[in-house]
Amino acid sequence: MRWIAGLFAIALLGLSAWLYFPVFPDAPATAASSDDIALAARGRTLTIAAGCLTCHWNTKGGKPFAGGRPFETPLGTYYSTNITPDIETGIGAWSDAQFLAAVKHGRRPDGMNLMPIQPFAAYSAMPDEDVIAIRSYLRHAVRPVRAAPPSNDLPFGFLLRGSITLWRLFNPARETFVPNSEFSESYNRGAYLVDVLGHCGECHTPRDAFWRPLPGQAMSGTLHGWDGGPVANITRDVETGLGAWTVDEVLFFLKTGIRPDYSRAKEPMASVIDLGLKQLTDDDIVAIVTYLETLPSIVNTVPKRN
Ligand code: HEC
Ligand code: HEC
Repeated sequence: MRWIAGLFAIALLGLSAWLYFPVFPDAPATAASSDDIALAARGRTLTIAAGCLTCHWNTKGGKPFAGGRPFETPLGTYYSTNITPDIETGIGAWSDAQFLAAVKHGRRPDGMNLMPIQPFAAYSAMPDEDVIAIRSYLRHAVRPVRAAPPSNDLPFGFLLRGSITLWRLFNPARETFVPNSEFSESYNRGAYLVDVLGHCGECHTPRDAFWRPLPGQAMSGTLHGWDGGPVANITRDVETGLGAWTVDEVLFFLKTGIRPDYSRAKEPMASVIDLGLKQLTDDDIVAIVTYLETLPSIVNTVPKRN
């Protein structure tokens, strides 16, 4: 009898160790290093396209990349962290491998899981070189800011963080993005910008009860986004999606937040545009639209935010 209890205890220990300290690759699969200042220029474009600033800036009084923007989710309010190179309150002391683990795998240096509001599910498809280029930009072109946002480590919050390991079983890391040579360069750039960097589907694709993207429903919108509000259908369906907008109208919207009927995008799309998309080149926006045009039209009525 006692050995069964022993085995049980070992299994339980193993399970909790696995929940809190999941195993990921420790070293970047690339020789690139963020010491290389020459990577920062490419890193800047990637940082903008990935919307890091959109979330890691509390525009009400905070500094860019210093975090503190609150995200109200059904699982509580989470604050983005300081990702400036400040040694004490930012990520100045992190290694590239630690940065990669946080951005692509949602793991902190202390081994704990990040909450999936940090969109590691989408970023997991980024090639390691691109993540290192982002880090090079953040290290060499962003000023260190000493600012500690409110802590996300609530009492018993570790239980929630542990449960993310289970969630990952249903939402495994994606394969690294590789362009498909059967399609145009613009289509491939658009696919990378929409599905990986811009993580549009994190908000625009409807989810099941385990917060898994519904298969075959990409970008068709939802009544219940992660903040509980509606998120628009951006497939080409004429009645309920963007089908009635001209290509120019979609371009104009992604650069300005203004719709063909002159109404304005509400949060969080407003800051996705203002702090990210607005700064992309016209070619990149065209690529986004080129790719969106190829997605299947799906009928799904979603009201605008008010
Ligand atoms: C949708 C909002 C959002 C976007 C976009 C986003 N982040 Fe985050 N990020 C967060 C939040 C919120 C946290 C804290 C999560 C937690 O505590 O579990 C976080 C945590 C992190 C951490 C861990 C920091 C720490 O001290 O634990 C790093 C590193 C990070 N983000 C880097 C980035 C980079 C680089 C990008 C762009 C490639 C990015 N994030 C884009 C919201 C976002
Ligand atoms: C943080 C969540 C979030 C992300 C990321 C996001 N969106 Fe949105 N988007 C929204 C919400 C919410 C709305 C609806 C806003 C409203 O009702 O005013 C919206 C609206 C839109 C609209 C207007 C649709 C309409 O019918 O009015 C377009 C187009 C759009 N998004 C495209 C994109 C693209 C392309 C990306 C990726 C580059 C993206 N969005 C990323 C949340 C997001």
